[in-house]
Amino acid sequence: MNYPTLCAALCLALIGAVSGAGLREEFTWSRITYRWPGVGGVAAASRAKRYAGSLVVEDPTLVPSEQIGGRFDDADGAPEGIDYNHVNNIPMGANVWRNKLFITVPRRRLGVPSTLNYVPLDSRQKHNVPLIPYPNWEVNTYPDPTNSGENLVSLYRVAVDPCDRLWFVDTGLVEVLSANVSRIRPATIGIIDLHTDRIVHSFHIPSDQIRPTSGLASITIDVTKNTCDDAYAYVPDLGGYGLIVYSLRENRSWRISHNYFYLEPLAGEFHISGHDFQWNDGVFSVELTSLRSDGYRDLYFHSMAGTHMYKVSTRILRNETLATRSYHEHDFEVIGDRGAESQTSSADIHQPTGVMFLSLVNQNAMACWNTHKPLQTISIVQKDDRRMIYPCDLKVSGDKVYLLTNTMPEFLYGRLDYDATNFRVWSNDVASAVAGTACSGRGSTRPAGHRPGSSGYASESNGDQSYAASRPRPYRGSRTYRRIYE
Ligand SMILES: *[C@@H]1O[C@H](CO)[C@@H](O)[C@H](O)[C@H]1NC(C)=O
Ligand SMILES: *[C@@H]1O[C@H](CO)[C@@H](O)[C@H](O)[C@H]1NC(C)=O
Ligand SMILES: *[C@@H]1O[C@H](CO)[C@@H](O)[C@H](O)[C@H]1NC(C)=O
Repeated sequence: MNYPTLCAALCLALIGAVSGAGLREEFTWSRITYRWPGVGGVAAASRAKRYAGSLVVEDPTLVPSEQIGGRFDDADGAPEGIDYNHVNNIPMGANVWRNKLFITVPRRRLGVPSTLNYVPLDSRQKHNVPLIPYPNWEVNTYPDPTNSGENLVSLYRVAVDPCDRLWFVDTGLVEVLSANVSRIRPATIGIIDLHTDRIVHSFHIPSDQIRPTSGLASITIDVTKNTCDDAYAYVPDLGGYGLIVYSLRENRSWRISHNYFYLEPLAGEFHISGHDFQWNDGVFSVELTSLRSDGYRDLYFHSMAGTHMYKVSTRILRNETLATRSYHEHDFEVIGDRGAESQTSSADIHQPTGVMFLSLVNQNAMACWNTHKPLQTISIVQKDDRRMIYPCDLKVSGDKVYLLTNTMPEFLYGRLDYDATNFRVWSNDVASAVAGTACSGRGSTRPAGHRPGSSGYASESNGDQSYAASRPRPYRGSRTYRRIYE
């Protein structure tokens, strides 16, 4: 048996067979509602007035009219003057700081009253808990009644750093799915002091670092408790196939290009919840290890439409000269192929143990991989074809792992039943989640990397697409491959 065949068999077996203690549902929602402000808390205006002169016009043909039902009335308890349409409120990000579970709702359509929100983790109510706008209603209001240019427009996945700050990227876009996208403000990196609940820093990403197809859906922070002023933010551009690096100290950003940030052409097929579709998302989320002996971290990354894992040292990324040189030589490494159906949205690393958790969108599952062990030891932590449809955000906070699942393909291509449970935040202790999987225990001291023939994506056409797409095969004569193994 040669290696590719062995891996194809072994990887699938491992992914299928090993199961940890899994996750438990922490919060669930059938539809997203908000803790509405007191009457008069937000200036009242009719919906028509509210959007008068606005750039954004929603296309009523986008969703079947049955699904729109009640869109323009203020059912669901929203006070007059707040634009709310429950069918358009799909949570996309979850993160935790102390007793706050942050939930973001990007403005992919109209009718999203607030994009950044939280619920108290210790809430006794666990189902359909109303979201509380964070840091307050005023900053989340769209359109911004005061025209300050500072209001939050649309946030996807947010980061919390060890200096008690919440970092976000505001795409600045109101997206009307598959129709018009309107830029309301520049793409903005923002920092909120979690002790004072104030936005303490804003940085507009220069427009020459943004592409017409840019998608800035996550942010990862590189900092320690002792170097809070010298933080770096890494913002993957999943639609523009690049990585934006921001230095807080220099208040400056630069954009990095590399072929590994692109989609993998044969790995863009998704089959979720009875819907088949093709996505072209490139580099999607990036994950940082603990500090290495040279004082820098490794940054792992992957494309959503892809099954490979890559890494690069932050020593390269943080130095603009090195980061933007046209030929990167050996700076970026291929770790290997995770195997068929391993397309991953968000991932995160538990730094003390080096265990990475991955959201396997094509398997309705969360996986783990101990980065000290070979990539082939990747294991399923939990899989649930009914309750874990579209694992969308994943965060490690302290020694706990949190996963948000949001049934998004059903929203995009089918019809969500807003009386069934659609959105879930799952959690568990890291150690319990990986118990019994190949991720627990200490790995070999040999760093994760290539094994002969175990990696690579199909580069030869054999005329059988489904075969080619579902089975990892070696690169042909790949220089990259040899160099990394040696
Ligand atoms: C999108 O923009 C075009 C051109 O501005 C306009 O004709 C069209 O009506 C808009 N569609 C929607 C859904 O807003
Ligand atoms: C950082 O840069 C932004 C430009 O996007 C500017 O508005 C802001 O004042 C700068 N902040 C500091 C602290 O220099
Ligand atoms: C960035 O890397 C270049 C090339 O190795 C080096 O000359 C320069 O000193 C580095 N810059 C910083 C700020 O470390």
